[in-house]
Amino acid sequence: MKKEINIGLFGFGSVGRGLYDVLGAVEGKDVKIKRICVRDLTKERGVDANFTDNAEDIFTDPEINMIVELIDDAEAAYGIVRRSLEQKLPVVSGNKKMLAYHLPELIELGKQTATPFLYDASACGSIPVIRNLEEYYDNDLLVSVKGILNGSSNFVLSKIFNENMDYASALKLAQDLGFAESDPSLDFDGWDSLFKLVILTIHAFGIYVAPEKIFRYGISTMNDADIRFAAEKQRRIKLVGHVEKLADGGVYLWVAPQLISRDKYIYSVEDEFNGVVIKGRYYYKQFMFGRGAGGHPTGAAVLSDITACRYDYRYEYKRMNTSLPLHHTNDVTHRIYYRYRTEEDSTLIHFSKVRERYTSSEWSYMVGDVTLAELVAIKDKLAGKDIFLAAYPFD
Ligand SMILES: NC(=O)c1ccc[n+]([C@@H]2O[C@H](COP(=O)([O-])OP(=O)(O)OC[C@H]3O[C@@H](n4cnc5c(N)ncnc54)[C@H](OP(=O)(O)O)[C@@H]3O)[C@@H](O)[C@H]2O)c1
Repeated sequence: MKKEINIGLFGFGSVGRGLYDVLGAVEGKDVKIKRICVRDLTKERGVDANFTDNAEDIFTDPEINMIVELIDDAEAAYGIVRRSLEQKLPVVSGNKKMLAYHLPELIELGKQTATPFLYDASACGSIPVIRNLEEYYDNDLLVSVKGILNGSSNFVLSKIFNENMDYASALKLAQDLGFAESDPSLDFDGWDSLFKLVILTIHAFGIYVAPEKIFRYGISTMNDADIRFAAEKQRRIKLVGHVEKLADGGVYLWVAPQLISRDKYIYSVEDEFNGVVIKGRYYYKQFMFGRGAGGHPTGAAVLSDITACRYDYRYEYKRMNTSLPLHHTNDVTHRIYYRYRTEEDSTLIHFSKVRERYTSSEWSYMVGDVTLAELVAIKDKLAGKDIFLAAYPFD
C-alpha cells in the first residue's frame, strides 16, 4: 500500500550522501529522511539534516517507519538489519559483505516477522540484477549468471589493455579518481565480486554457498607476461564472477580472472562499468550493463528499493522453495592459464591435461585442464606467490 515514508538512515558516506541527493531531486515529498546516524558527529557534512551518532535515536523514534543501512562496517550493519527486522521495520541494505555472510538467517528472520528486506543495490549498484533474477528468471530455464561485478578492477584492466598503462600506474589512477578502495585487496583480490556472487546465486539458483567455500582469485599479481599472453591470444583479461547450473543439478561458482575473447559481451565492458550476462535455455543470452558503483548510481538503486518496500514488495526466494533443490559442486573442469617463476611453483597446480607449456629464465607458463575442486583445495597456497592464473575458456 502507498504510504508516507520516514527513513532512519545509517551512514552518510558515498552512498548515503548519494541517496540524499537523489531523494532531493525526485518529485513528491512523501519519502523523507527523518534522521541520519553516523559514526563521527564532528565531521562537516555540508547539508541541513538531523544527524545523530546514537542508533537508539532512530530505533526509538515512533515516526520512523523504514530503515536504510548504508554503512561500511559489516558487523554493525548486521546488528542494524537484525534489529530492524525484529522491530518489524522494513529495511534496505547495500552491504554485500554482511549479506554474503548472514543472508540465510536474515531471510528467515524476514519471513518470521513478515517484514520487507531489500538489497538490490548490494550487487551491481544501479543494475537491477537481483530483482530481475527474482521476477523474470524464476524458472528452470536459467543456466548461468556471469559478469564483471567490480568496477574498480575493471577500470584498472581497461587502462592496461586500452592505454598500455602498467598495473601500478592504473591502480594509482583508480585510487586518485576515487574508484578504488584505499585497501585495494577488496576490489583487486576478488572479495567484492565474491560477496556479490554469493548474493546473486541465492536469487538465481536458490542455494547459499558460504564465501569460504568458493574459489576466489584476483588480478593483483598480474604482470606484463600475462598481459602479453592475453594480447597474443587476442583476448582481454577481465575479473569475472560466474555461477552455472550443470545438467545433474550441481551448481558451481567461482571468481577468477578470465581471458575473454572479442566476441563476448563482457569483452567490451570498459572502465568502471559492470556487465552481467544471463544465460538460459531457449532465450540463450541476455546482457545487463550499467554503473555498478558510485554514490549517485547506487543511491538511485537504494531509492528503487525504498519505493518497492513502500508497496510492500518482498523477494520471494522462489528458487529456494523448488521441489528439486540444486546442490553446490566443484566437480567441473576448466582450462587454465598458469604463470609461475620457480621450479617449486611449477607443481603447485595438478593439471589433468597440459595443453601448452612455455619456459624461460624470467617466467614460465602452462595451459591445461584442472578441476575446480583442485583449485579450491590449494587456494590458500596460492596467496602471496609470484604467480598468476586465469580461466582460458574454449569458446
Ligand atoms: N560506494 C559504492 O559505490 C557502493 C556500491 C554498492 C554498495 N555499497 C555498499 O554501501 C555501503 C556504504 O558504502 P560507502 O561507499 O557509502 O561507504 P563510506 O563512504 O565509507 O561511508 C560509510 C558511512 O558509514 C558510517 N558508519 C560506519 N560505521 C557506522 C556505525 N556503526 N554507525 C553509524 N554509521 C556508521 C560512516 O560514518 P562517518 O561518516 O561518521 O565516518 C560513513 O558515513 C557499504 O556496505 C558498501 O559495500 C557501496
